[in-house]
Amino acid sequence: MSLPLGSTELDEILTPRLEIVEERLRDAVGQADSLADSTSKHLVNAGGKRLRPMLTLLTAQLGDGARPEIVEASVVVELTHLATLYHDDVMDSAPTRRGAPAAHEVWGNSVAILTGDLLFARASRVVAGLGPEAVRIQAQTFERLCLGQLHETVGPQEGDDPVEHYIQVLADKTGSLIATSARFGALFAGCDPMTVERVTRYGELAGVAFQLADDVIDVRSSAEETGKTPGTDLREGVPTMPVLLLRERIAAGRGTADDEKLLADIDGDLTSDEALADVVGRLAVHSVVDETSAKAREWAVRASESVAPLPDGAVKDALNSFADALVARAA
Ligand code: IPE
Ligand code: IPE
Ligand code: MG
Ligand code: MG
Repeated sequence: MSLPLGSTELDEILTPRLEIVEERLRDAVGQADSLADSTSKHLVNAGGKRLRPMLTLLTAQLGDGARPEIVEASVVVELTHLATLYHDDVMDSAPTRRGAPAAHEVWGNSVAILTGDLLFARASRVVAGLGPEAVRIQAQTFERLCLGQLHETVGPQEGDDPVEHYIQVLADKTGSLIATSARFGALFAGCDPMTVERVTRYGELAGVAFQLADDVIDVRSSAEETGKTPGTDLREGVPTMPVLLLRERIAAGRGTADDEKLLADIDGDLTSDEALADVVGRLAVHSVVDETSAKAREWAVRASESVAPLPDGAVKDALNSFADALVARAA
């Protein structure tokens, strides 16, 4: 995805800054040990959209966007994200990521997990240069991320509403880091506390929208578009919004016979590629996926509303375009 900001002026300012972030990122993942060096560079080199650093650079334009801490903060959020991807792919048994084999497919689970840890360590090193407030924010973010993944893994407990539980999972595992990405930009650009709070909330809500869109993409986009293997979460029994909505519909007695058959197949054996492709194809055209898209749009609208009080201008417009692009994307 190129800069989804809808402003040539901002593109001209942010593109060279993103290039600097990219250089710093590549330095930050380097290791003297040749195995650790290869494993750490694997996903940075494979690509990725760099949405989180882009958001940090963008919200920084609400203040003094040229401060050097902003580039460092952008590196921190992408390093943190990268680390979670290594761990997530182990947990989800994902075969591909960013169009490349997932790290655990190449080097095994232990090396992939340790590489994620190495990247977290590097993120900590970079964030230390930004002072104790940034370290605290990064630690809280990391904690929420882990709790989100944990709660996704264990699922809703007795008495929890599964859809609400899932939204909380998304806010924690994805919203937290996108919120911090937005917060760091405004914070290090010297914005007032209210502005920092507004963009933080924007990031949190946009993050939920983004992850709901990811559930749609998982069944409606191709591996070529996303660089990931469609249906990975279905195969592993990881909950996604479309499946939760389908389950809810059937539990409420509103499901058709086809719905029941589809859910039984989703809960069945999806080891073979044919079985998985069949279920992905049937789910892709189901209205629960449209409902998930609609929910993603609702969260994006809420994100935009939270920055509505900011002064009118290119940055606010770009935050609105960015929220729209997060849900309209195919990759
Ligand atoms: C993937 O994030 C993990 C989620 C939170 C859905 P991205 O879709 O931002 O992944 P990259 O960085 O572009 O690979
Ligand atoms: C991504 O979650 C990992 C984190 C947000 C920590 P998912 O498992 O839902 O995302 P993809 O589809 O693998 O990128
Ligand atoms: Mg995953
Ligand atoms: Mg996952």
